[in-house]
Amino acid sequence: MCGIVGYCGPRATPEVLLQGLKRLEYRGYDSAGVCVAHHGKLQVVKRVGKLRELTLALDHSLPGSYGIGHTRWATHGGITETNAHPHLDRTGKIALVHNGIIENYETLRARLENKGYRFQSETDTEVIVQLISDFYQGDLEDAVRQTLSLLKGTYGLAILHADHPDIIIAARNGSPLVIGVGEGEMFLGSDVAAMVAYTRQVIYMEDGDIAVIDRQGYRLTNSFDRKVDKKIETISYQLEEIEKGAYPHFMLKEIHEQVHSIPRAYQGRIDHENATAKLGGLNMKSQQLLHIDRVKIIAAGTSWHAGMVGAYLLESLARIPAQVELSSEVRYRNPIIEKNCLYFAVSQSGETADTLFAMRELQRKGATVLGIVNAVGSTIARESNGGVYIHSGPEIAVASTKAFTSQVTVFYLLALMFARLRHLSWPEGKKFIAELESVPGKLSLALEQEAHIQALAKKYAAYKDFLFLGRGINFPVALEGALKLKEISYIHAEGFSAAEIKHGPIALINPETPSLFLVPNDSLRDKVVSNINEVKGRGGPVIAVCEDGDTEVMRLADDVITVPSVSEFFTPLVMVVPLQLFSYYCALELGRDVDQPRNLAKSVTVE
Ligand code: G6P
Repeated sequence: MCGIVGYCGPRATPEVLLQGLKRLEYRGYDSAGVCVAHHGKLQVVKRVGKLRELTLALDHSLPGSYGIGHTRWATHGGITETNAHPHLDRTGKIALVHNGIIENYETLRARLENKGYRFQSETDTEVIVQLISDFYQGDLEDAVRQTLSLLKGTYGLAILHADHPDIIIAARNGSPLVIGVGEGEMFLGSDVAAMVAYTRQVIYMEDGDIAVIDRQGYRLTNSFDRKVDKKIETISYQLEEIEKGAYPHFMLKEIHEQVHSIPRAYQGRIDHENATAKLGGLNMKSQQLLHIDRVKIIAAGTSWHAGMVGAYLLESLARIPAQVELSSEVRYRNPIIEKNCLYFAVSQSGETADTLFAMRELQRKGATVLGIVNAVGSTIARESNGGVYIHSGPEIAVASTKAFTSQVTVFYLLALMFARLRHLSWPEGKKFIAELESVPGKLSLALEQEAHIQALAKKYAAYKDFLFLGRGINFPVALEGALKLKEISYIHAEGFSAAEIKHGPIALINPETPSLFLVPNDSLRDKVVSNINEVKGRGGPVIAVCEDGDTEVMRLADDVITVPSVSEFFTPLVMVVPLQLFSYYCALELGRDVDQPRNLAKSVTVE
């Protein structure tokens, strides 16, 4: 995945690069490095480990008015200082940072080795810088163009040359890059977060774009060397949104923010008078929407779970057949595009390679794909045929929380809109809207359980295996609960439909394997209660998340987390919050790095 930054201007370059990398650390954090150019010399500093290692090692007053930096999530080659970026060519005059994967690097490397080149690292990236060096005859841009024409794979690149003071060359194909425009200074980053402290004026690079950036501005061309004119966009979010504030971790901040982020997903989108939702971004008229016979949803990770809730809502409320599929599977399955089928690509980052490539494949075959995206200006947001921003604000913790509940909220709006176009009456629509608008208040009540959940985490964090069990609309929430626990606490956890345990997972039940049951007071409650009895009968500890006042469940379970009562469709929003808090506190109890769990990254821009 990796994060890239670049800067040219009068500020202290190391400081700007480190600040930018700090904002991009969510993209990868196994090593980091910077290169600063000064008087025809490149100074490279790299360190293994989190950014703080580099921050300690780097001389913050290192002179130089342009530089590049990188935070790595290793793909090719182990986590070592040699494999960390920036990489230098054999003359030591060209430095390069890369986000993406070069698929034909072995062939290119062999070709260069035959010419006598010796490689320092095990990375795919080093071939790029050595190729540029090989082509270089005084014109850096030309050497970069020749190199890019040989590369197969994905890249976001930033390149410096000691003999070309004050320019950075950037190139993009499949990995995001944004140019920041300041006064007498320019920025580069994988994401606007890298530059938001300095400028709000940005240009989103497209695939095939090459930018030559200096202090005064930039020149953007495409792969055919034709000038590209792009509008400068103004980014809206505030610096506080990407800072922890009084919270110890971004994850806890983001869990608490849900009381406000859920309303942001529906505010301004509800037509109270007509008891429906208005979603202008879909770029589709009611008549077109009426002709939709089927919905398919593609996504990865937590977004996939939100998509599962969405499919359930679209079928149950709107009565539209809806399916959800992992985007990583869609692309290579040679999907069949059905007539009158509408696709949704769900992605917090809007950059997930699996989802992006699946979307492109579907579009290539003629499908209409709408995005449900958080990151404004991201690739999926720009390349989709329309869509809905979830507006949950920047999500920094690697484990997704508020984006999940906002994605689900957007599905409430979509289901309502489709249902009102078809069969749902005005009073039923009104009731649904009132219930949706009451959720944030109920979520505040759910958050009041925090101290109790923390105590439960103390009691349970030492267990090695967990089952998360739910049914119906809460089956995906059980999957999400298990994913949260494993990704940040490293406790092994699996999610199942509670009904499914008798077909296998019940063999795992013993006094060392707690089961966390989701028991809303819905149409399937009694069946879930029977499953609790089956687990209890086999000596398995049970934690139940149930509605306040459900005395039967409270008696049956070893421990209980109560949530306020909401109608069946809205239970995922109140059920997921205790699971997020439980994971958070288990991870804390075990001394894990909550916001940056091992081996993971937030924005997965590799397949
Ligand atoms: C990564 C993140 C997950 C996220 C998934 C999909 O694996 O660690 O938290 O759910 O990617 O990301 P997206 O940005 O497409 O929602």
